[in-house]
Amino acid sequence: MEVTIGIVEGASKEEKYQALVKSIDSVISGESDFIANLANIASMLKYELGFFWVGFYLVKEGELVLGPFQGPIACTRIKKGKGVCGESWESGKSIVVPDVDAFAGHIACNSASRSEIVIPLRRDNEVIGVLDVDSDQVDDFDAVDQRYLEEIVRLIS
Ligand code: SME
Repeated sequence: MEVTIGIVEGASKEEKYQALVKSIDSVISGESDFIANLANIASMLKYELGFFWVGFYLVKEGELVLGPFQGPIACTRIKKGKGVCGESWESGKSIVVPDVDAFAGHIACNSASRSEIVIPLRRDNEVIGVLDVDSDQVDDFDAVDQRYLEEIVRLIS
């Protein structure tokens, strides 16, 4: 399977996400395994958009447990309400953190991470996990990232 994503040089962030959403849709529509799809989505986000760390945490027995990811080794378990991921799980809302040092309770899995966005994954109105994307630049995420990452998460939920 070869996937051409079609991100052209000089494209805006929005254009890159639009190309990526189409590719992700085509990759996951041919595969029914949830974990395989999460793994390919993490890879596509990491390698096409160049983020520092991209991964999923999945709710298992009352905790978030590390799932498919791309990037450096990360914390394996996060409790509800803890860190950005645990807060997103508890509230069911996306959270954009422009500066991780300014977020009370942020869990630092890697000191190179400077900003972060977390999007909840829902199934039947219940949060079943989160998508976590980290950048090594401060203030790297905005409403465009939130909108497209939420769209990507909807594709798999
Ligand atoms: N920073 C996250 C923990 C996960 S790592 O960034 C991969 C948090 O505060 O929930």
